[in-house]
Amino acid sequence: MSANNEEMLVTPWEVRGKIDYDKLIKDFGTQPLTPELLERIRQFTGTLHPQLKRRIFFSHRDLDWILQRYEAGEKFVLYTGRGPSGPVHIGHLAPWIFTKYLQDKFEAKLYFQITDDERFLYHEKFSMEEPSKWAYENALDLIALGFDSKKTRIILDTKSMGVMYDLAIQIAKRVTFSTARAVFGFQDSTNIGLVFYPAVQAVPAFLESALVGHNVPCLIPAAIDQDPYWRMTRDVAPKLGYYKPAQIHCRFVPGLGTGGKMSASMPETAIFTIDPPALAEKKVLAAFTGGRTTVEEQRRLGANPDICSVFAYDYFLFMNEKEIEALRYNCLAGNIMCGECKQILAERVKKFLIEHQEKREKAKDRFEEYLFNPKDT
Ligand code: TYM
Repeated sequence: MSANNEEMLVTPWEVRGKIDYDKLIKDFGTQPLTPELLERIRQFTGTLHPQLKRRIFFSHRDLDWILQRYEAGEKFVLYTGRGPSGPVHIGHLAPWIFTKYLQDKFEAKLYFQITDDERFLYHEKFSMEEPSKWAYENALDLIALGFDSKKTRIILDTKSMGVMYDLAIQIAKRVTFSTARAVFGFQDSTNIGLVFYPAVQAVPAFLESALVGHNVPCLIPAAIDQDPYWRMTRDVAPKLGYYKPAQIHCRFVPGLGTGGKMSASMPETAIFTIDPPALAEKKVLAAFTGGRTTVEEQRRLGANPDICSVFAYDYFLFMNEKEIEALRYNCLAGNIMCGECKQILAERVKKFLIEHQEKREKAKDRFEEYLFNPKDT
């Protein structure tokens, strides 16, 4: 069955079906990013990031409030993260690239949580070896994106738990099992580690406030699958006297198949940052497109960029405003064939991977520099 025919499901651990983002805004109780709010952001940043212009980031909670506080002189911290169960794919990079833009524009400190504990608890067959290995490997991807080492702190849960535990139990004490079950869908068979874990993911939202001894606003950029954590975290915040963390949510970079988000569980339709460039090229050349059955038909009728995974990649990550508009026009008009389009994307993906992999290599000596140390707050 095509991913698009399945019923929509969006949880922190599983995303499937055709995603209806308007429905998610309603179901999750978030706010759409309005043109007025985008204009407010532009007043601070000068230019709007393509992920904002294109509504790849499409929804938020309390972003207006964060900007108000910022205007009044109160700086915010950023918080995002990664569950290290395998290699990073370029879908994961989309919210991180955007987070870097926010760090640069607002000179914000970033807490980046690597949840080796979550992945150990979630994957039945994992020993601690796998998440520990991937934690380090995934951190290299983050560092390779150029985050400022003075303003970025990587929290590796199993290493940083000493500092986090006090907050984690404060949070856990204020969430009943019945709330956790309703928010996360826990079953009788769920292990109790996973039931406690959401308290751990809530900690970095309050960490800066706890460390400096006064409330500091926190903004979380991430795809919308992480939202259940923030609903719980926001519920607890006033009970502990902290600000509720704000969020800005992005859409999912799709896989190269017929729909659904890019996912490590479908490696043939995902491009991993550690893929050899030639393999990534192969995956792009095999991608699902919105093309017609024959060249003649496509020249006459044009193709459909709205269902095309190649167009989606260009749109999410690889083309600027002018290029993407021209591509849409030429695709609809039947001026460009899918083979040519795939080749253009494949070249860009390869170039990106070659450069990113060089930066990953250089990042290998710098992991410790980024690691969270409560003494340097
Ligand atoms: P994880 O490792 O599943 O995902 C890491 C980040 O990537 C986003 N994401 C995507 N974004 C765009 N397109 C996709 N196809 C795609 N797939 C995943 C996720 O939303 C996430 O932002 N529990 C978390 C780790 C975590 C975290 C956080 C994430 C801890 N604290 C704070 C975000 C914010 C996890 O397993 O993420």
